[in-house]
Amino acid sequence: MAETAGTEWHWSEDGINFHTRKWVKPEDLNANGSLFGGSLLRWIDEEAAIYAIIQLGNYRVVTKLISEINFEASALQGDLIEMGLTATHFGRTSLTMRAVVRNMITRRRILTIERIIFVSVDENGRPMPHGYSDITYDRDRMPREHPKTDSVRLP
Ligand SMILES: CC(C)(COP(=O)(O)OP(=O)(O)OC[C@H]1O[C@@H](n2cnc3c(N)ncnc32)[C@H](O)[C@@H]1OP(=O)(O)O)[C@@H](O)C(=O)NCCC(=O)NCCS
Repeated sequence: MAETAGTEWHWSEDGINFHTRKWVKPEDLNANGSLFGGSLLRWIDEEAAIYAIIQLGNYRVVTKLISEINFEASALQGDLIEMGLTATHFGRTSLTMRAVVRNMITRRRILTIERIIFVSVDENGRPMPHGYSDITYDRDRMPREHPKTDSVRLP
């Protein structure tokens, strides 16, 4: 596992690229004045949903499981944090991801989540095979129907 303590810093960590950044604002803080874990989990869940949609080509994906969360460090108001995910396992209907969040200011790792599992579902909410077994780095699997109407054919 890559070392991120001290001044050690890499753009990518264990194959994870950090796409999304957040600016920690007053509404994201807990009573202790540091980043509220619930805010962070909301951001990660959304990030994982978007990642799963891109990987599985289905905008109907639901969170099935989030494994143990190890909060290693925190963030304060005004800090910049970055979130990264990578797919670690393609199942029949599921996708397992690993998440890392880092503080760009202090250069410390805020948390790791070893397993976030999303399931691809059909219009009735039942698990649906996605047919993929590896990571795409393109937008080639993007769904072609509009999420709101199901009917508009997108380019
Ligand atoms: C997601 C959901 C449709 C799965 O239904 P299910 O009856 O468990 O379906 P299955 O048993 O066929 O499992 C579907 C996939 O999830 C995986 N899975 C199910 N339970 C799991 C668990 N506890 N841990 C890890 N993987 C699990 C299965 O291995 C399977 O993956 P695979 O097809 O890639 O092998 C159903 O549990 C659900 O609707 N949950 C609520 C989802 C939700 O609303 N999330 C938002 C939180 S508010």
